[in-house]
Amino acid sequence: MGILEIKLSQNQYSILIKRDILEDIGTEIRKLYKNNKIAVITDSNVEALYGKKLLKSLEKHDFQTKIITIKPGESSKSLDTAKNIYEELLDFEITRGDMIVALGGGVVGDIVGFVASTLLRGIPFIQIPTSLLAQIDSSVGGKVAVNLPRGKNLVGSFYHPQAVFIDPELLRTLDKRFLYDGMAEVIKYGCIKDKALFEKLMTIETEEELLRNMEEIILNCCKIKRDIVERDEKDHGERMLLNFGHTIGHAIEKYFAYKKYTHGEAVAIGMYNMTKKSEEMGLTEKGTAKSIREVIIKYNLPYEMPDTNIDKLTEAVGLDKKNKGKTLNIILLKKIGDSFIKKIDREDIGEYIRD
Ligand SMILES: NC(=O)c1ccc[n+]([C@@H]2O[C@H](COP(=O)([O-])OP(=O)(O)OC[C@H]3O[C@@H](n4cnc5c(N)ncnc54)[C@H](O)[C@@H]3O)[C@@H](O)[C@H]2O)c1
Repeated sequence: MGILEIKLSQNQYSILIKRDILEDIGTEIRKLYKNNKIAVITDSNVEALYGKKLLKSLEKHDFQTKIITIKPGESSKSLDTAKNIYEELLDFEITRGDMIVALGGGVVGDIVGFVASTLLRGIPFIQIPTSLLAQIDSSVGGKVAVNLPRGKNLVGSFYHPQAVFIDPELLRTLDKRFLYDGMAEVIKYGCIKDKALFEKLMTIETEEELLRNMEEIILNCCKIKRDIVERDEKDHGERMLLNFGHTIGHAIEKYFAYKKYTHGEAVAIGMYNMTKKSEEMGLTEKGTAKSIREVIIKYNLPYEMPDTNIDKLTEAVGLDKKNKGKTLNIILLKKIGDSFIKKIDREDIGEYIRD
């Protein structure tokens, strides 16, 4: 079990990581919420697996509940879905004194946080992340958003939950592709800040061993993100380190219209190829890219740059919403566990992509 306190200028809350915490989540929520009304928002996959368990535990503590279920997948992270959720919450006569619970992966967490931040100018919410990506990344740090047809996460804000409850056992039902997708972000944390975590990942032999170690892995990742977010909540400086592998990764995802590679797969390709280039340029300790490649392969992720039109890929980097202006901040490693931000001319990104 692990508890992390996250202390920001205007918010303070805890992240509790504990096996099987879902069984008794009502007790945990009762500790921080004294009223009765709770709206649980989830997607249909997660609802089928864990909806009843959650409601049962809440009802034991006399909460009055309503469950709202959205369609699984990125296409649900839209203003249309948000509107439907607003309507259902208003039908439930929710007020600013009530509570919303997000039970699901990053899609659910992001849209529910967005809805909670905007409906009635803000309703408190709790995150119960259920995918690995959500447990180590999207539920921590307060970024909430929906997509627009022209791009991802274009409408959103920073809005923190009252608490985050993480049950690593829920990952046992996660589809393997999503499990390894999340592992790309775990590898990223090791690369940018935590050599011991990186080395630990190298020693794990089986999926069962991985799941047995998950509580500790999640705790390490959340600690790293917590520390970075505490120092740079609004993403103007150090928080950019979390984008290691993402500049190329986002471009690859976009180039293939989000169909060929998952986010984690694209990030894995980005981490390896960026490091291979920076190693050739003498900016990164020799052998780093090889270590990254080994760990990427171990977690069933791709590392090879796909066959693409480099000019189009470079153009896709330019379209990334985080990369406006003449210069571009890229994240490189000095060595495993030690990362830095490098400002380059936008046009020079090709040097990090071309073979
Ligand atoms: N807010 C942030 O800081 C932040 C950071 C990273 C990513 N994100 C966002 O996160 C989203 C991706 O999140 P994701 O990868 O979790 O996708 P997701 O929410 O679509 O979940 C992946 C799939 O797994 C299913 N699922 C979730 N938990 C499960 C479980 N325990 N057992 C069985 N199935 C389960 C879901 O129904 C879904 O089909 C993207 O929209 C991305 O923009 C946000």
